Amino acid sequence: MHVELYERIWMWAAAGVIAVFLGTIVLTAGLHAIQPPSHIETIDPATLSQDPEFGDPKVTARPDGGVVVSVRAEMFSFTPDPIEVPANRPVTFRLTSADVIHGFEIVGTNANAMAIPGYVSQFTVSFANPGEYLIACNEYCGLMHHNMVGKLIVKEEAP
Ligand code: CUA
Repeated sequence: MHVELYERIWMWAAAGVIAVFLGTIVLTAGLHAIQPPSHIETIDPATLSQDPEFGDPKVTARPDGGVVVSVRAEMFSFTPDPIEVPANRPVTFRLTSADVIHGFEIVGTNANAMAIPGYVSQFTVSFANPGEYLIACNEYCGLMHHNMVGKLIVKEEAP
């Protein structure tokens, strides 16, 4: 079968573009440590206020010096707020939502997850730089979505 030269060029160009896109995904996944969540834990959003963990979510210390931060997201706030954690220690966030899907992004860090009603999202990070960080909801959740912010305070470790 005869294929015109220009048609061949465009076919190879299209194949090349696809190869570049796929290669970019594979490379960034490998080099930048994209870590898709693998934690599956369910919770009843209707009875969240009576839940031992998420009824009164807070920061709890772990024996290894790290902390676990339970966070309840709801229209239009995060609880607790502010959240205080130590620097250079493992910080495990456990998030859930009492109503709709919210975002939980700690701006300027790679901590970013969704708070989904019915599920507990969990991830562990550590913060090298003490200071104050903005926590932003990055899932549109209602009229005051733009006002749904929180504060994370990373404190220098005691000497
Ligand atoms: Cu919560 Cu947007």
